[in-house]
Amino acid sequence: MKQILLILFCAAAVTARGQKFEQMALTPPMGWNSWNKFACSVDEQLIRETADAMVSSGLKDAGYSYVNIDDCWHGERDAQGFIHPDPKRFPSGMKALVDYVHEKGLKLGIYSDAGWKTCGGKPGSRGREFQDAQTYAQWGVDYLKYDWCNAEALNAEGAYLTMRDALHAAGRPMVFSICEWGNQKPWLWGAKIGHLWRTTGDIKACFDCVEDHGTWKSSGIMQILDMQKGLREYAGPGHWNDPDMLEVGNGMSVNEDRAHFSMWCMLAAPLIAGNDLRKMPGAVLEILANKEVIGVDQDQLGIQGFQFATDGVLETWFKPLADGDWAMCVLNRSPRSQKVVFDWKTKAVADSFSKREANFGGVNYRVRDLWLKKDRGTTKEALDAEVPACDVLMLRLKKM
Ligand code: GLA
Repeated sequence: MKQILLILFCAAAVTARGQKFEQMALTPPMGWNSWNKFACSVDEQLIRETADAMVSSGLKDAGYSYVNIDDCWHGERDAQGFIHPDPKRFPSGMKALVDYVHEKGLKLGIYSDAGWKTCGGKPGSRGREFQDAQTYAQWGVDYLKYDWCNAEALNAEGAYLTMRDALHAAGRPMVFSICEWGNQKPWLWGAKIGHLWRTTGDIKACFDCVEDHGTWKSSGIMQILDMQKGLREYAGPGHWNDPDMLEVGNGMSVNEDRAHFSMWCMLAAPLIAGNDLRKMPGAVLEILANKEVIGVDQDQLGIQGFQFATDGVLETWFKPLADGDWAMCVLNRSPRSQKVVFDWKTKAVADSFSKREANFGGVNYRVRDLWLKKDRGTTKEALDAEVPACDVLMLRLKKM
């Protein structure tokens, strides 16, 4: 009997090979993750309160659905090798927490690592991939972020393939988030394995800075943005570039937060909030919950935006949208307010990747300001605006 079961299990594992869960993350995933604000200070109360706040704040209505626990939830492996959550921080167990989050109409995400240990020194999944995937599936987990610490000797594509196959064999559809920091160019192999892949090292809540930690560096918003060059053609429905989780509400100014959020939407980036949802100032919530700006990120066409022009201080970005509209974002990188003049009639946008064009000389568009939530005339008149320091002007253009 045991032998028959083993053969059946192996056959299932073999037929499961070569697949990820399709038809997931057809638009960039939206949710929250504990790391940027709480690092290793995670427990079940924080996760429950965050799920409550996601609903009561209106973020759930705005499209956020994943409540993701990052590093350090782990306790020990038992004698059979099964992983358990830290019993002091998660005394009710993971299944009960997942049920709580599901009852709110939300989904739960968890974190592991391709190496022996996570970045926080907790047990990693190396050699235990199928067993861990089964455990997560039994708990009812919906999303796995899979990190890359203590895995330097491994081939990344192979390591992530193993976990993809393990998740598929476990049978519960999960979004698979490849967190390999862009080291082995995951955009070249990630689409068949996961639903999103980190393109860079860690983000930092700072508009324009780099912090050197010795063996690694964290980067500010502008630095991460600049590292996305040349990657847009790899992204699309079900497989996204991930420029890391949001730092909105984690200490930058409102202008900087707005610029950060807008650019992530122009990039069709996953929108994973990283602040304390339980204590959100109104200005932070207004950014995270702006449905018109989110609509640019979540557009069904799934085309990442691109830089159209730059003078080093002001950057103009465009993103084609499913209904023939265009999103346009003018980013002011400088610490001084800047005047923007854009004479539509003399401009034409042509995107060879999406094969979309907008010839403003020949076709007129209505202009909507997505932050002011106001119409702003048409492309018949030149755009003449002031963009505050480290901020954006974000528009949606609709054919007349
Ligand atoms: C790495 C990841 C981060 C976070 C930490 C957890 O640095 O890139 O996003 O998950 O590990 O230790």
